Amino acid sequence: MHGYAIDHLGIATPDLETGSAPYRALGLSPEGPDEEVPGQGVVVRAFRTGDSLIELLAPTRPDSPVAAFLERRGPGLHHLAFRVPDVRAEAERLRAEGARLLNDEPQPGRAGSRVVFLHPKWGAGTLIELVQH
Ligand code: CO
Repeated sequence: MHGYAIDHLGIATPDLETGSAPYRALGLSPEGPDEEVPGQGVVVRAFRTGDSLIELLAPTRPDSPVAAFLERRGPGLHHLAFRVPDVRAEAERLRAEGARLLNDEPQPGRAGSRVVFLHPKWGAGTLIELVQH
């Protein structure tokens, strides 16, 4: 057991084209069409890099958490996501150890995944996501 793999890095951007420029320059291409995730108020463009994705997140509405993040912090790294076999079980395990979950029930993520977010205070300053495909 070498620990969970990084599934993706979430990058906040005001618009997908601007946000895409560095990754295109690095030779990455979007994987599939842009996908809206209504529950999170974002549209996502995913670039594959090895076994992980760079996911650009642009807000689709003013009350989107990503809109608030952009307002507060500006564009850039928003969260990192670990791929877990059972998101509910892992979230429960961490909660029992004192982790603060931002959503108690797994919610829909990109590409049919189910995700739970952990509070950035628990994550030592980083918003951490658990994702199950
Ligand atoms: Co994510």
